[in-house]
Amino acid sequence: MDSFRIKGPAKLSGEVSISGSKNAALPIMVATIARSGIYKLNNIPNLRDTRTMIKLIETIGGKVKKNGNQILIDTKSCNNPEAPYELVKTMRASFYVLGPLLSRFNTAKVSLPGGCAWGPRPVDYHIKAFKQMGASVKLDRGYIKADGKLKAGVIDFKVSSVGATGNVLMGCMNVSDEVIIKNAAREPEIVDLCEFLIKMGMTINGLGTSELRIKGCNDNVDISIEHDIIPDRIEAGTFLASSIITQSKITIKNINLDHLQAVLNSFKQIGLQVINQSKTSITVKHEGDIKFKNIKTDIYPGFPTDMQPQWIALMCLSNGLSKMEDTIYHDRFSHIPELLRLGANIKLEKNIAIITGVDKLMSADVMCTDLRAGAALVLASLAARGSTTIGRIYHVDRGYEDFEKKLEILGVDVKRINSN
Ligand code: EPZ
Repeated sequence: MDSFRIKGPAKLSGEVSISGSKNAALPIMVATIARSGIYKLNNIPNLRDTRTMIKLIETIGGKVKKNGNQILIDTKSCNNPEAPYELVKTMRASFYVLGPLLSRFNTAKVSLPGGCAWGPRPVDYHIKAFKQMGASVKLDRGYIKADGKLKAGVIDFKVSSVGATGNVLMGCMNVSDEVIIKNAAREPEIVDLCEFLIKMGMTINGLGTSELRIKGCNDNVDISIEHDIIPDRIEAGTFLASSIITQSKITIKNINLDHLQAVLNSFKQIGLQVINQSKTSITVKHEGDIKFKNIKTDIYPGFPTDMQPQWIALMCLSNGLSKMEDTIYHDRFSHIPELLRLGANIKLEKNIAIITGVDKLMSADVMCTDLRAGAALVLASLAARGSTTIGRIYHVDRGYEDFEKKLEILGVDVKRINSN
């Protein structure tokens, strides 16, 4: 298992280009199964998770060609409505395949996702929705077995769910009457998926709102479409945080600032200065104190849970006491014990982290426990005095394309150490 060795404290300079959004790419890639055709997807990040999704599409019978950050997917020969445990256990987002398989084949056998570094992360909302749409769904030796032609109805989610919204949207591909989703997720990644599904022939109204009105395309003619994936707002937020924690001036390119308002506003309130900005790039710098600030995560457009660990890393060096309450996941805090090893002062009370800023962090050997926890440890190691080794960096490889190369370009002394 690879590690990073990062020498701190680091001073950053220059510019970094953000990759395509992992959380838009994954549902859009798997949506191609719902309708036979040829799909050219641009700005797909080369990640562990997108490589896993390619394997899943090929398992179902699709053909995939990768050409840098462009992938060509041919789903004309898809013929196997089964997503095996060995793939789904490595990536929860594989469960998105349930909707497309039901659309295409009126049957699906999908392994329940395995555990995650935090929480049970159930899929009950997905299953309840497909049952409401007429599918028979049962659990059979760790697999969800779903059968039936999905039909129209009103799906009213009691809790906004990105995955369940996406799965139901893809399940509507061949539902000719109107499906209404209430309390739909509004994340930019869901809007990007909707735009792709509209290109595939669906009619979807209410994009970006919590009520979506959907009609399938019910057309089996092979299609050929192209789509550009939106930039990754969480990667962009992570690099904004790197400017703060290293007191540096950097430029971040290939972003969509509209997707980053809650994060950028919070960062400005703790001292980040915006030197200049356009719709697709921003130059920022941070000098002096990191001001303490309380944050509560929320669904979009609120402060995203996927930036919670990175925020806690910043507050470790703030000028006071602050609270981070994660209202989405109540136990997504496995990064805290690792940050304590670097000298942070954090207490956890249920789903609220109480962070008392310290003057400095000291290097140590630490370990990633999940993707964004790993990002938080990378940020903290940029400020820590000495050389920090971060183990199990495969977690970070799931969601940050060429992370060490991007950090090197900004001036960080970082080495990837192969353990095998
Ligand atoms: C997506 O996960 C993202 N993953 C996550 O990003 C992100 O943290 C999450 O949305 C919230 O924004 C992808 O897009 C691939 P949810 P998802 O369904 O769809 C509960 C990252 O770091 N829930 O919106 O699984 C759930 O436990 C990853 O890139 C149920 O109870 O999240 C959570 O408390 C990590 N039953 C809340 O809803 C269900 O059937 C929101 O989860 C589904 C969800």
